[in-house]
Amino acid sequence: MAYNLLKGKKGIIFGALNEQSIAWKVAQRCVEEGAEIVLTNSPLALRMGELNKLAEECNAPVIPADVTSNEDVTNLFTKSMEHFGGGVDFVLHSIGMSLNVRKNIHYTENNYDFTHKGLDISALSFHRVLQVAMKMDAINEWGSVLALTYIAAQRVFPDYNDMADNKAYLESIARNFGYQYGVKKHVRINTVSQSPTRTTAGNGVKGFDGFVNYAEKMSPLGNADANQCADYCVTLFSDLTKMVTMQNLFHDGGFSYTGVTQAVIEQMEK
Ligand code: NAI
Repeated sequence: MAYNLLKGKKGIIFGALNEQSIAWKVAQRCVEEGAEIVLTNSPLALRMGELNKLAEECNAPVIPADVTSNEDVTNLFTKSMEHFGGGVDFVLHSIGMSLNVRKNIHYTENNYDFTHKGLDISALSFHRVLQVAMKMDAINEWGSVLALTYIAAQRVFPDYNDMADNKAYLESIARNFGYQYGVKKHVRINTVSQSPTRTTAGNGVKGFDGFVNYAEKMSPLGNADANQCADYCVTLFSDLTKMVTMQNLFHDGGFSYTGVTQAVIEQMEK
């Protein structure tokens, strides 16, 4: 069901890789709610070709950008502003990658070249996107910027590896840039801390099925799926949440505040 919550709004969506991607669902929901969007991903991801399908469905241009490149991010905002004839109202950062995770390197043995690369892609890129946007004055008054994160930023999930550190950094950027952009232009910046979700990035984490099942049992409402995450992001891009900024917002069916559930106790008693 659509409510026209984003009627007239324009946005940039980073990170839709395939139909499982959280960003894919967010893009679809934003358009359903009346927004016009630009889609972007790394040149490598675009070579896989799947994004064209979404672009057609959403009537959205695709502008490649590797988020580790200032030049690419600047080009993305320049082209987006040309396309829209002005600034944007919302931005979704839905990007994560760790080479230490991919190569199955234990946290205590992390390769720092890989750590740097992962930090650059997963966290610093958020600062880069905001810095470029601010310099170009590319985000309209009361615009809304979101990045996706995971509770491993606050609590230890050993197999999440260095992505836990990347997410802690990402959430800190949301607070600190949120202050600066709020004062300067009423732009609000938040992170959404999502339940484990079966996607390409999610499946890369060792023992991911265990993660998903444990979180399902530990959440009074069960795990939030990607479509529900998209619904939540729409509300945060809308004018109904104008005074929310610098927050890490849990979208996890109650997992973050649950000590234990009956389902887990029963499992332990078996
Ligand atoms: P996904 O694999 O579909 O999305 C990750 C995206 O990052 C891909 O589109 C990929 O092309 C993009 N990316 C990687 N390197 C890039 C670069 N250099 N430049 C531009 N884009 C680049 O997976 P998913 O799960 O949709 O991930 C989206 C976000 O949600 C990530 O931040 C992830 O950490 C976060 N998240 C995911 C959860 C899960 O369980 N799947 C749970 C909580 C948060």
